[in-house]
Amino acid sequence: MATEQRPFHLVVFGASGFTGQFVTEEVAREQVAPERSARLPWAVAGRSREKLQRVLERAALKLGRPTLSSEVGIIICDITNPASLDEMAKQATLVLNCVGPYRFYGEPIVKACIENGASCIDICGEPEFLELMYWKYHEKAAEKGVYIIGSSGFDSIPADLGIIYTRNKMNGTLTSVESFLTIHSGPEGLCIHDGTWKSAVYGFGSQSSLKKLRSASNLKPVPFVGPKLKKRWPVSYCRELNTYSIPFLGSDMSVVRRTQRYMHEVLEESPMDGSSFTMTFFGQGYSRGLSIDKNKPNIKICTQVKGPEAGYVATPIAMVQAALTLLNDVSDLPKAGGVFTPGAAFSRTKLIDRLNQRGIEFSVISSSEV
Ligand SMILES: NC(=O)c1ccc[n+]([C@@H]2O[C@H](COP(=O)([O-])OP(=O)(O)OC[C@H]3O[C@@H](n4cnc5c(N)ncnc54)[C@H](OP(=O)(O)O)[C@@H]3O)[C@@H](O)[C@H]2O)c1
Repeated sequence: MATEQRPFHLVVFGASGFTGQFVTEEVAREQVAPERSARLPWAVAGRSREKLQRVLERAALKLGRPTLSSEVGIIICDITNPASLDEMAKQATLVLNCVGPYRFYGEPIVKACIENGASCIDICGEPEFLELMYWKYHEKAAEKGVYIIGSSGFDSIPADLGIIYTRNKMNGTLTSVESFLTIHSGPEGLCIHDGTWKSAVYGFGSQSSLKKLRSASNLKPVPFVGPKLKKRWPVSYCRELNTYSIPFLGSDMSVVRRTQRYMHEVLEESPMDGSSFTMTFFGQGYSRGLSIDKNKPNIKICTQVKGPEAGYVATPIAMVQAALTLLNDVSDLPKAGGVFTPGAAFSRTKLIDRLNQRGIEFSVISSSEV
């Protein structure tokens, strides 16, 4: 990728947001990582200079880097002003887009990036957005040679790369995978869901998904979101009402914003240190030389991806490592640009090794012939 012609290799758009602040810190950490050999000029972008400055000051304090603010560019731009998005995209090799919900805000950034020759990674958990961007922009992105890679946070790097890892570790052909997610929400409790989208939407789901959750976990589901919730349910439970539940809140912007604000409040009050996730994959397939149409699957494998708190610790790590992969492992990316899922974009790269080094760990639990 043509990193040298542009002033910033990375631009964190939406750095002032709840997730954007952690992505900003993560880029700042990477900038001075001991193994880094090349320079990493980067900037934060958003609609309020004051907020962006505050985020940089907080990161500087947290990371013990008093000069950080002076090392990072600031770009002012607003989704409602397409010219400002063009200006941002022209200055960036790769935009890390943290401005969501993406179905309301995402498209103008994808468009501006493609038109101005910048790649873009987001942390969207809204499948319909990624699908729409693929249908509308895949060919245009390919023509321009840029990569638009969606869902590169907790949704869906562990799931996508977990399946690729399982495939790579199987001594034969992987033909099916079942996966389960366990969220450990600190010392107070453990939530588990059955891997379906609906069961993940603890408080927001339908009656039947709430019933399912009740039988699958030792916690009681909550029927609504509001101030009463906080009084009635422990923080460890509320913490799992994460912003990646946004896809399930429908298209009413005011409900989405109210829920998001509420979740941020809860998260600010409760430390995320004790939280973690484990994603387990059960794969089956055929050992080499066995014919898929004539035989039953004869090999099984179980793998896991484990990591820290999903929404605001694992997500920034995943997003930033995906970004560094895109900048540095160009020859292992799909040949032409386009709109991709993380699995499609990163399957031949070293992203899994990078994640292993940053605390999102991939391992084989067992592997056997049946
Ligand atoms: N994939 C995952 O696992 C995962 C994990 C966490 C979050 N997420 C997603 O990340 C997204 C952000 O979540 P969040 O909790 O960080 O939200 P947030 O705190 O509300 O942050 C939103 C950001 O968007 C900016 N913004 C809003 N309107 C804008 C406009 N017109 N022009 C420019 N910037 C604008 C805000 O800027 P101001 O500060 O100026 O308002 C803020 O920086 C959501 O879509 C969420 O679902 C995904």
